[in-house]
Amino acid sequence: MQTNLNIQPLFDTEIEVLCPATVANLVCGFDILGMALQDPSDRIRMRLSKEPGIRIQHTDEYKLPTEPAQNVAGAALLDLLQAIPEPVGIEISITKEIKPGSGLGSSAASAAGAVVGANYLLGKPFSDEDLVRFAMAGEKVASGVKHADNITPCILGGVTLIRSIFPLDIIGLSAPPLQVTVVHPQIEVRTSDARQILRKEVLLKDAIRQWGNIAGLVAGFLKEDYELIGRSLEDVIIEPVRSILIPGFDEVKQRSKAAGALGGGISGSGPSIFMLSKEAATANSIAEIMKQVYTQLGIESKVYVTSINSKGCEVRITG
Ligand code: HSE
Repeated sequence: MQTNLNIQPLFDTEIEVLCPATVANLVCGFDILGMALQDPSDRIRMRLSKEPGIRIQHTDEYKLPTEPAQNVAGAALLDLLQAIPEPVGIEISITKEIKPGSGLGSSAASAAGAVVGANYLLGKPFSDEDLVRFAMAGEKVASGVKHADNITPCILGGVTLIRSIFPLDIIGLSAPPLQVTVVHPQIEVRTSDARQILRKEVLLKDAIRQWGNIAGLVAGFLKEDYELIGRSLEDVIIEPVRSILIPGFDEVKQRSKAAGALGGGISGSGPSIFMLSKEAATANSIAEIMKQVYTQLGIESKVYVTSINSKGCEVRITG
């Protein structure tokens, strides 16, 4: 429990939190890079209650658990509530647009949105770093490990770097305007499975190539150098293993690049695939290519043409 927290609970306020989808890894930065998207996003309605405990409802079709310790938002809130001296209750109603198992940070959106909302209702006693730590408890429920590469951009917005988790060291990165085209083939890849299949050791030559790409990508964002961003979007460690789980991956990537994409790859642990482009027209033609590939494969897909969300979770007072 933290002492000297300035808690001013808003018992008579109801809020809605808009929680953006996120693309983790950004190809070469496994578990350390991520960015928030304008579309899609989840909505969470919340209010405090004088009756202690967390009560969760879902207003969508996904039948997610409502027992707090088994629910990603609930687990994150349990961690947050442990840090405050006075017991309070939280009523939370979640409407998911970001399909679980899509690779678009669905669990992070619930966990991050819940703690951002609770922090607002408690008079904002916690820092962004505190909120990332609480929300990681939700990611642990979802995938068995604490990682912050979806949660951090979901809370802060923009492109973010997790230099370290223990101790937490998060850095917001500036980035030039980018168009993001995302395809979500309607198959499920569980993050825990997509992590299980990874090799535990990497060759030094691969590590060196990956370090070069990560440094190049970060430099490309900061220098607003689109060509450097494009050639740094290369993953020689994770993508060769995980892409096997995603039908159509190679074709989407190759045809998107031929159509002018700067580059892209698996979004988080998949199956969604994202491509970055400089121009809206290119992003739209990539969307057509993605739809074509999955129609030909007989797999339903959902395509988003969007851009970077610079605000992260947004709170709106609704009552
Ligand atoms: N960095 C994580 C992974 C993100 O790729 O497993 C999961 O959403």
